[in-house]
Amino acid sequence: MSNPAPMPRSRILGTGHYAPARVLSNSDLEKIVDTSDAWISERTGIRRRHVAADGETTSDMAAAAARRALEAAGLSVADVDLIIVGTISGDTPVPSCAVNVQQKLGAEEIPAFDISAACAGFLYGITIADQFIATGAANCVLVIGVELLSRILNWEDRTTCVLFGDGAGAVVLGPARGDGRGILSTCIFSDGALASSLIVPAGGTAEPVTDEGLERKRNKVHMVGQDIFRVAIKNLTSASTHALKASGLTSAELDWVVAHQANLRIITQVSSRLGFPLEKFVINIAEYGNTSSASIPIALDEAVRDGRIQPGQSVLLCALGAGISWGAALVRM
Ligand SMILES: CC(C)(COP(=O)(O)OP(=O)(O)OC[C@H]1O[C@@H](n2cnc3c(N)ncnc32)[C@H](O)[C@@H]1OP(=O)(O)O)[C@@H](O)C(=O)NCCC(=O)NCCS
Repeated sequence: MSNPAPMPRSRILGTGHYAPARVLSNSDLEKIVDTSDAWISERTGIRRRHVAADGETTSDMAAAAARRALEAAGLSVADVDLIIVGTISGDTPVPSCAVNVQQKLGAEEIPAFDISAACAGFLYGITIADQFIATGAANCVLVIGVELLSRILNWEDRTTCVLFGDGAGAVVLGPARGDGRGILSTCIFSDGALASSLIVPAGGTAEPVTDEGLERKRNKVHMVGQDIFRVAIKNLTSASTHALKASGLTSAELDWVVAHQANLRIITQVSSRLGFPLEKFVINIAEYGNTSSASIPIALDEAVRDGRIQPGQSVLLCALGAGISWGAALVRM
């Protein structure tokens, strides 16, 4: 039984993404670490990933995705009054990646800030943007998910380096028009008890980088994959159920699910727990691997541009990542 749908406050006006031209296949990785195309594709669904060129930065990729989203929305950078960037691999620890994006886009002196919620960064970003628009504090918000993880991976660790890729995705959010289209619900959660299961241990104040730390790759991504795997299936399912309920929709009324692309086996399990067919999940993990906060907006943009997602359709977004942080949102496009 469904509740009446809430009136959306904000809606997606345009989407865009950018993926670096350079591609690393599973066979390429066989030459770098002790792995195989068969292991990677069977255990994860990943076949290729895009990797930034030397000299290419996180903010370069973010700005490219943002320009495409603005173009799709028929808006210019002068219309934007807030920039939110979800990333854990910004250009520098200080300042934010968002200020570099602002400068590269040539935006006015508008607020620009980063969200650190790892793979859930884009979902956190749209949740915050929705609130800004609801209160009237912002009218046109660029929300970007971007990661350049190839530079913070340990390329000697086969348990992590085969999983991730680089890329950026963006949406432009503006006020809803009262026609029922827009963000119907969002929910975000975190649980620091699992903080050490997916972590870059050194480089912050708790463990400054030392020669010994560099030697032990403490400034690179460390992950206990099975810890995350188990909790991902459970929490993605519960957040999705939560967002569905808050939107007044049932899974039978959904048109598409765009889930974070971390592992095809996770997506398959979430599909079965939600009782929603896998064919209605937008899946591009084979091409990009796990691009963390960029994965949802890249997949969303691809599905909008190739016509799978149509105006007026209901789309569930859900993501989980380091923190752990997770969440879901229901959007009528
Ligand atoms: C990382 C992940 C793919 C590993 O898959 P898994 O089925 O749990 O595999 P395991 O870790 O149990 O490893 C199984 C074996 O494969 C080996 N292995 C690990 N990585 C390998 C690789 N790249 N190539 C070949 N073998 C590999 C392991 O050493 C282990 O060998 P052993 O049995 O001899 O000890 C999976 O746990 C996962 O996707 N976790 C969640 C990741 C995630 O969502 N992360 C980010 C959140 S955004």
